[in-house]
Amino acid sequence: MNEEAKEVLEKLGLKVEEPDAQPGIEEVTQEKSKHQESIELLTAMYGDIAMRESDQKIHKFWDTQPVPKGEVEKNVGPLDEVKTVAEVRQEPYGLPAGFQWSTLNIDDTNELTEVYNLLNENYVEDYDACFRFDYSREFLKWALQAPGFYQNWHVGIRQSSNNKLLAMITGIPAKVHARGNLVKMAEINFLCIHKKLRSKRLAPVLIKEVTRRVNLLDQWSAVYTAGVYLPKPVGKCRYYHRTLNAKKLIDIGFSALGPRMTLPRYIRLYKVEDTIKVPGIRPMEAKDVPQVQAMLVKYLSRFTMWIEFDQHEAAHWLLPRDNVVYSYVVESSEGIVTDFVSFYNLPSTVIDNPKYSHVKAAYSFYNVATTVPLVTLMQDALVFAIREDFDVFNCLDLMENDKFIEPLKFGKGDGDLHYYFYNYFIPECTEREVGIVLL
Ligand SMILES: CC(C)(COP(=O)(O)OP(=O)(O)OC[C@H]1O[C@@H](n2cnc3c(N)ncnc32)[C@H](O)[C@@H]1OP(=O)(O)O)[C@@H](O)C(=O)NCCC(=O)NCCS
Repeated sequence: MNEEAKEVLEKLGLKVEEPDAQPGIEEVTQEKSKHQESIELLTAMYGDIAMRESDQKIHKFWDTQPVPKGEVEKNVGPLDEVKTVAEVRQEPYGLPAGFQWSTLNIDDTNELTEVYNLLNENYVEDYDACFRFDYSREFLKWALQAPGFYQNWHVGIRQSSNNKLLAMITGIPAKVHARGNLVKMAEINFLCIHKKLRSKRLAPVLIKEVTRRVNLLDQWSAVYTAGVYLPKPVGKCRYYHRTLNAKKLIDIGFSALGPRMTLPRYIRLYKVEDTIKVPGIRPMEAKDVPQVQAMLVKYLSRFTMWIEFDQHEAAHWLLPRDNVVYSYVVESSEGIVTDFVSFYNLPSTVIDNPKYSHVKAAYSFYNVATTVPLVTLMQDALVFAIREDFDVFNCLDLMENDKFIEPLKFGKGDGDLHYYFYNYFIPECTEREVGIVLL
C-alpha cells in the first residue's frame, strides 16, 4: 500500500495490514489478495465521508446479499429466488488456518461466561467509547434460549491454539408479520468480533455461516437491527432517555447540564414522585399469560411489522425475571387483565470512570394500555424502575411511544436504530408502524 493510502487510513482510525504482514482472519471465500482488499476498503471508507447514509455507497459484502439496494418499488416478499434445503451448502464456510467454528452451548456455565466476556469486552459502545453494553449472563440465557431455539444458530469462532472465543453471531426463531404476511424469520443478534480482529472481513463470514445454518432449516429470511446504516433499512427509530438518577448521569457524562441549568434544578426537574397511579397494577404472574398473550397479539397486529408470540413465547419474554425483565399488569375487579407494561434491564459498563463501574438502564419493551392512558401506565413504570434502582429509562420512538416521550420528559438521544429484513422486501415503515423491540 502506498504512503498516501496509509495516511488516509490512519486519519480514519483504521489499521489495514500490509500484504502478508501478519497472518490474520480474512473472508475465506475471497478471491482477492489482502492488498487489493486494503485498497478497496480504503476506497469504500474514503467514500464513506461523503456518502454516509447513502444508498450509493459500495458495500462489498452487502451488495451481494438479498437486501434492498436503492429500489423504491418492489413486490412485497422474498428478494432471492426460491431455493430448497438440498441446494444449501452442506459444509461450513472455511476459516483461515488457526481458527475454527464452534456452536455455543450456553447451558454450559463456562461457555456462558466466555460469551459474556466476549460481549462485555467487545460489544456495542457509544460513539465516544464511554459506555459499552454489559448484557448479564441471565439476560443472555433469556435472549438466546427462546422457545424453540436452535443451538446450532448460536455461532462462535475460536482460535484453534487456545480455544479462545473471538467472535460470535446468534439467531433465534421468530414469527414476523410484515405488511400482512406471516414470515418465519431468524432474529439475528449479538454479532461481535474481538477488538483485535476488526476490519478483517470476518463479519461477512459470520453472517454467511449463520445464514447457511438458518437455510438448512428451510428458513430464508431474517430480522435484525443495527446502529449503522446498511442496505437498506425497513425502518429507522430514535432512542430517547428518561433521566432517573440525575446526579449520577451527570457524573458519568451520560447527560450534561445545559447553559442555564444547575445541578439542583436538574435534579428537581427529573424528580419522580414515589406514587403508583394505576389502581390494581401488580407484577405479572404465570396465571396472566393467556390474557396477556391475547391482548398483546391483538394490539401488535395494528402495526406494519410485528412479532407474533404464542403463549409459550409470551411467558418466556414477559414473565418477570430478576434483573432481566420486569412486567406489570392491571387487573380489573372481575379478574380481567386490561393493561400491561414491561421493560428489560440492560446495564452498560462505564468505561474508565473512577467512581462508577455501571449505569443501570431500563429499556421499554412491550406496553398495552386499554383502560388507562399509556402515559399514566408509563409513569408507573418509571416509579417501578426507580424502586429497582435504575439510573435511566430508555425507549425508542416506535409504536405509540410518542404519546409519553414528551410528557414524561424523555430526552432525544443521538443515535438511530435501523431495522432490517434479510431476504424480505416491504416498503419502508415509519417509526409508528414498527411494532418490534429487539434486545
Ligand atoms: C460489527 C462488527 C462485528 C463488524 O466487524 P468489523 O471487523 O468492523 O467489520 P468486517 O471487516 O469484519 O466486515 C465489514 C462488513 O461488515 C458490515 N457490517 C459492519 N457492521 C455490521 C452490522 N452491525 N451488521 C451487519 N453488517 C455489518 C460492513 O458494512 C461491511 O460490509 P460491506 O463492505 O458490505 O459494507 C464489529 O465492529 C463489532 O464487533 N463491533 C462491536 C459490536 C457491534 O457493534 N455489533 C453489531 C451490533 S448491531
